[in-house]
Parts: sequence; structure tokens; C-alpha cells
Amino acid sequence: MQEIRVGLLGLGTVGSGVVTIIEDHQDRLMHQIGCPVKITKVLVQNPTKERGVQLPQDILTTNASDILENKEIDIVIEVMGGVNQTREYILQALRNGKHVVTANKDLMAAYGTELLAVAKEHQCDLFYEASVAGGIPILRSIVDGLSSDRITKMMGIVNGTTNFILTKMSQEGKAYDDVLKEAQELGFAEADPTSDVEGLDAARKMTILATLGFSTNVELADVKVKGITSITEEDLAYSKNLGYTMKLIGLAKRDGDKLEVGVEPTLLPNAHPLASVQNEFNAIYVYGAAVGETMFYGPGAGSLPTATSVVSDLVAVMKNMRLGVNGNSAVSPQYPKVLKSEDE
Ligand code: HSE
Repeated sequence: MQEIRVGLLGLGTVGSGVVTIIEDHQDRLMHQIGCPVKITKVLVQNPTKERGVQLPQDILTTNASDILENKEIDIVIEVMGGVNQTREYILQALRNGKHVVTANKDLMAAYGTELLAVAKEHQCDLFYEASVAGGIPILRSIVDGLSSDRITKMMGIVNGTTNFILTKMSQEGKAYDDVLKEAQELGFAEADPTSDVEGLDAARKMTILATLGFSTNVELADVKVKGITSITEEDLAYSKNLGYTMKLIGLAKRDGDKLEVGVEPTLLPNAHPLASVQNEFNAIYVYGAAVGETMFYGPGAGSLPTATSVVSDLVAVMKNMRLGVNGNSAVSPQYPKVLKSEDE
């Protein structure tokens, strides 16, 4: 391979981070894959908008076909967000034989099974490490690192925005609306932050984690969700006085063939390790029957941390291309749904 040509769908917070990492870490990427990575086309809504990254004007396009139908492009990176339009784009890319990397948990939680099947049919990779816990390589850790174990429980903080809000409200006494605005300005929150604060973003991530961790297809509808919108500064101050810290906790556990997945605000004793996870950081405990307890910690949102996972997926695709083994993605459910939630 002389070079790998990449088409980027979206140039927002994460897209800009992807451009930065590909440019700044070209030596490391060369070392990993043996050829340069070239961003060939970038889909944007407004080509004249001022951005934090500099790209030649002629590679910006408002027409997705310039990427999806472009025979020169090997890999499509989707960081535009959204579900319906994005699903169509990814299907089109896969059917045209392009490998896809996405950070889109909304899409993967809703259509992951379908998209992974289409990817396999076309011998394409579809990787989505950045969809859960930003810069923490949690999906590969579950699927590859703990592949020999039987995961029994995953529990932790998987939404950076709400953790940022709860931290600032509790430690600095800031008002909810002000901190939410700050999280939006820092690029942590979703375009519509309702999905963060009402727990849906965390629920989507728990859907993906449970699907991979338990090797079954968990549906978003199976996940019980409660967000942080009803929590007041008084609640946080009161808990603090009693020695507790409020966190939005995602839980996925199985007991025999019973599966439970949910997200809810939870009071943790101050000495609990999750109580000291602050701001946009995430942390996930993974319990295995053999390994016991493991904990994964790191930045769960933000431009460069999330882009790190995206570009690492890009490297994984490129290594597979070199070996000629694309389409056998390890990061996909291995079995059809066999475990039932309590309500079914
Ligand atoms: N809005 C998400 C969060 C972004 O705050 O965690 C990263 O998935």
C-alpha cells in the first residue's frame, strides 16, 4: 500500500481531533502500518466556517457521494452524529466496499447488529471503539483482553457531561444550567444535551457494553433509564454532608440467564473509587468469573481523547487490510440473543 486514503464525514469536535491526530502522529501511524494516512475528502455542512484545524479548501465537500462513491477512498470515518441519514451513509460506504470507523453510539445502539452484518457480507471492517467512554479502550478490553473470561457485571460512569455537571455542582456549588453550558462549550455534551442529562447517552453505551460483554444482542428498550435532571444542589450538599457522592451509574449484570441493564443516579460512599472520578472522566468496573475485578479509567469525552479511539480503530482496520482479514471484526456480538431481561 502506498498510502491509505480516508474520507471523513463531519468536522466538528471529534472530526477536528481526528485531523489533528492523523497530522501530528503521522510518524507513529507510519510505524504501525507502514504507509502514510491521507485525508482525501471531508464532508462538512459549511465549507467556509472557521475551524480549529487547517485543511485545503478543495478537500471539503458538502456532497456525501464525493466520499461514499469515491473509488480512491479506502476507509470512511463517521463523526457527524445523528442516526437516520448516517445509517444510510454507512450502509452505502459498506456496500461500496469501504471500511468504516464510527464514534456514533446512538447509531450502534440502535442499528449495530444490522450494520455489522452488512459489513461482514462485504468483507469490510466496522469499528466503533470511540462510541463508549471516549478515550478508554473499553470495547477491545472486553472483547479481546477478557476474551477468555465470562463477564458477569459491568458498572461505572459512562457519560462525561453528567459527571462534569455533578462534579461542578457538588464541589464548586455551581448552578446546573451554568455547568451544562460549560460542558457544551467544552465539546463534551451531545448536540442535543437532553440525551446526556436524561441518561439516554449512558443507556446507549450500556447497551453496547452489555451486547459485547455478554455476547448477546441487548436492545436499548431493555435498559432502564433515569437521568440527573431532578437532582438539585441541595440534594448534592445533603449527600456530601452524610459522606456520599452522587454519580450517574450504568450497570449491566447477569445472573444465570437473567440480564439486568440500567442507568440511574446513585449515592456512593466517598471512599468508593467511582466517587473520586471527576469532571468528564469515565470509569468502568468489569467483573469476570475468573479475573475478578478490573477497573478502566480515563477521559470519557472531548475532542482528542475520543479521536484517539477513532484513529486507533483506523490503525486496526489498516492492519487488517495488510493481513487481508477485514470483515471478521472481533468487536461485534458473537451470538444471537439468548439472555432475557426480567420483563420479557
Ligand atoms: N456526550 C458524551 C458524554 C460524549 O458526555 O459522555 C462522549 O460520548
